[in-house]
Amino acid sequence: MDVPPDIVDRIARLRGDIVFHQHCYFVLDDPVIPDTEFDRLFQQLIELEKQYPSLIVLDSPTQRVGARPLSEFRNARHSVPMLSLENAFDEQQVINFERRIHNRLGDSSAVRYSAEPKLDGIAISIRYRQGKLVLAATRGDGSVGEDVTHNVRTIGAVPLRLRGGPYPDDLEVRGEIFMPKSGFEELNERARAAGEKTFANPRNAAAGSLRQLDPKVTAERPLSMFVYAANAGQLPACHSQTLLRLRDWGFKLSKENAVVEGVQGCIAFYNKIRALRDALPYDIDGVVYKVDDYELQSIIGNVSRAPRWAIAHKFPAQEELTRVNAIEFQIGRTGAVTPVARLEPVSVGGVTVSNATLHNIDELHRKDVRVGDTAIVRRAGDVIPEIVGVVKQRRRKGARIVRLPSKCPICGSDVIQPEGEAVARCTGGLTCTAQTKETLKHFVSRRGLDVEGLGAKLIDQLVDRGIVKNPADLFGLDQAKLQSLDRMGERSADNLVNALGASKETTLARFLYALGIREVGEATALNLANYFRDLNVLVKASAEELQKVPDVGPIVAQHIAGFFNQLHNRDVIQQLVKKRGIHWPKPEASIQSDTLISGKTFVLTGTLTGMTRTEAKARIQSLGGKVTAAISSKTDYVVYGKNPGSKFDKAQNLGIKTIDENGLSDLLDR
Ligand code: IVH
Repeated sequence: MDVPPDIVDRIARLRGDIVFHQHCYFVLDDPVIPDTEFDRLFQQLIELEKQYPSLIVLDSPTQRVGARPLSEFRNARHSVPMLSLENAFDEQQVINFERRIHNRLGDSSAVRYSAEPKLDGIAISIRYRQGKLVLAATRGDGSVGEDVTHNVRTIGAVPLRLRGGPYPDDLEVRGEIFMPKSGFEELNERARAAGEKTFANPRNAAAGSLRQLDPKVTAERPLSMFVYAANAGQLPACHSQTLLRLRDWGFKLSKENAVVEGVQGCIAFYNKIRALRDALPYDIDGVVYKVDDYELQSIIGNVSRAPRWAIAHKFPAQEELTRVNAIEFQIGRTGAVTPVARLEPVSVGGVTVSNATLHNIDELHRKDVRVGDTAIVRRAGDVIPEIVGVVKQRRRKGARIVRLPSKCPICGSDVIQPEGEAVARCTGGLTCTAQTKETLKHFVSRRGLDVEGLGAKLIDQLVDRGIVKNPADLFGLDQAKLQSLDRMGERSADNLVNALGASKETTLARFLYALGIREVGEATALNLANYFRDLNVLVKASAEELQKVPDVGPIVAQHIAGFFNQLHNRDVIQQLVKKRGIHWPKPEASIQSDTLISGKTFVLTGTLTGMTRTEAKARIQSLGGKVTAAISSKTDYVVYGKNPGSKFDKAQNLGIKTIDENGLSDLLDR
């Protein structure tokens, strides 16, 4: 079929645009158009290629996922062996490393090093011929790896074609494929909800995703890649320059890479990255120092499997072994029964861990954790420590299997596990003191009614002594009742009574969130408040009506309607509002047109501390503003939190107004 020349042009332009936007999104983490617009471009290209299949080429962005699964992986021999790194576990070993370098060079003047985070993923080698990706292989034994080209092509951060130029005709790029922490958590969360096997850590998830015969599966996994080395006929004179070249050719580098001088520079880098470790969006297990100058590298040379000019300075591990002393069941606010392992205390990455979650009963059985077992505990960042698995070889005879209790260990009500659900629940509702305590803690929490000075220990006492049975009872507390409690002086009692009084003035959204309805987080609570504006209307709303609220689907609607259908819930709400005087201003009509926000377009960057991003977005929208992912000429405000991304610099360059979180609060509250 003849192809009209303007179609050839259009396809070329679309491909160019799509590749550009993928680069912005996956490599620079800085999209310039909204996702919907990107999807539209992509769809256009798919349609055109469908009409003119003769124009499809292997490096078209539509061809990242190949047509058919493989039947097996082929071997791929590395033209230059993939070496590994020697490890240093303390400063002395780094000092010794530099001393050996000085000896080899016969010169003890300061050496420059490229200092880089040591990514905890899977090493990969990718070959480009004439700028096109032709082969991607795992490290294997260093000489022969596995050909995983079909899977690596699906990773957005991997260019199918080199950008810019000039580039070498034959280029081999080395780097690490990894799964960002957030993607890993989501993937496991989904697996857990579906009762499927979870991955032990982001590294295993990346490895498992890369070793798929069907590239469609890999394409759905949130993988990324950082590059840290290259081989080619001609490269700059030092490693750090090569890294910059690689960036120009379209690859992603760690933002933390630096050039440092001497051991002092290395150690300072180590300390800086170690402090950052938990906040980084990806797992690292140390840092790497590499002599920067290629000529010096070749003088220093290699030992059989590792270069002498580089070393990995490792961090303390985030996984450790310890003994499971007991497995107990905790009852959450919504009755969810969560198995918790009580551990022989162990230091993991510098923090003592003595409890770890097993998430749910299915997970406990799948991992087959028994009392007395030696378990692998993992902690990373803010995530609750968890049991990754057990060392079966070390299991002693008679290690006790723990089963789901048929009765709640706290209130004795039946525990049920609905068919197809991973989570078992206590059916006691508010007759279960564990659920009552958690409900109360949530009710008074900072994002709930925010009652200052009413901590977990106090709530435990109040419930255990039968003084408080539900949130409404809290407001019946007076000096006398409070002073009967342990460790409660006159002053504290006074303060608490005042704090309770002050918390009565709230917002409908906070009140709804505080009730602790299943699946109703802050953002949903805000949407509900803005939509209904009147609690009585919301209480009577049907599940159908509820689904008209933004982000409320059938399941959430069921939970909400179910909650308000329960007589005792309605009764407590009545008491709170009528008898105890909890009140709030009526929320404004859902979309306001006369605010400072209405009609304005916002972009958020960095971590907000006083509110979540979802909340910020919902509040801006409820006041008639718009939140977009990317900065454009239409952006009015860029709101920056902690560690803002490149969007902040961009806004400043473009002269767009930047405001911090307080600035946003001011606008929202005016
Ligand atoms: S350079 C000859 N740089 O660590 C030097 N490796 O323990 C080869 N790794 O197999 C590696 N981050 O998978 C280098 N910035 C980095 C790295 C890094 C992670 C991995 C790599 C290598 C392993 C060696």
